Amino acid sequence: MIYYRNLRMKTHPEVYEPAEDSFLLAENLCVGDGWRVLDMGTGTGLLALVAAENAEYVLGVDVNPVAVGLALENAVLNGVTNVGFKVSDLFSGIRERFDLIVFNPPYLPVDEDDTLGMAWSGGLDGLSVVKRFIGSAPKYLSRDGVMMLLVSSFNDVDHVRDLLEENGLGSEVVSRRRFFFEELFVLRCSISAI
Ligand SMILES: C[S@@+](CC[C@H](N)C(=O)[O-])C[C@H]1O[C@@H](n2cnc3c(N)ncnc32)[C@H](O)[C@@H]1O
Repeated sequence: MIYYRNLRMKTHPEVYEPAEDSFLLAENLCVGDGWRVLDMGTGTGLLALVAAENAEYVLGVDVNPVAVGLALENAVLNGVTNVGFKVSDLFSGIRERFDLIVFNPPYLPVDEDDTLGMAWSGGLDGLSVVKRFIGSAPKYLSRDGVMMLLVSSFNDVDHVRDLLEENGLGSEVVSRRRFFFEELFVLRCSISAI
């Protein structure tokens, strides 16, 4: 069990345990009243539950079915009812558009495909999941929609911003924090910013 603000979150050995990257993104989540939010790669559901405080509705998805079950349990544990969770490989199971899409992606430059490895493995360049995500995300944003993406210095943040721009998304760094091994960046992206 971990505690974050007013939330109690169960953890599981096969699900990514919220860490500095999760907390930095959570701190920077700005959710307008009534927004519909997508938490991509929800893990324990932490970001979905934080977003649910203001959102009308939050959908959390994860490729890991154990994560989806755990996120559901955490919603019940915290009495949060305006959230839903389902298994999806990125946007494969998603049909609607969102006012906010948030993603703390797997970004380490390692190639691991077991259940937990998929929580941090971004393939050999660290960007395999991020590139697929960026290629599809604009189609799932509402007209004034916003995307919050966590990027690490294990990746090249300027390269990620170029990829975003190639896909019609302007971006700005809204927060950055240095840790022992890496620096983390929160990018705020939107279609209308370019
Ligand atoms: C770094 S963890 C973040 C978990 C949680 N959002 C947090 O901040 O604590 C990345 C999450 O993305 C999920 N994931 C990895 N590849 C995915 C994919 N192709 N589609 C959906 N989720 C994926 C992993 O299972 C993992 O739960």
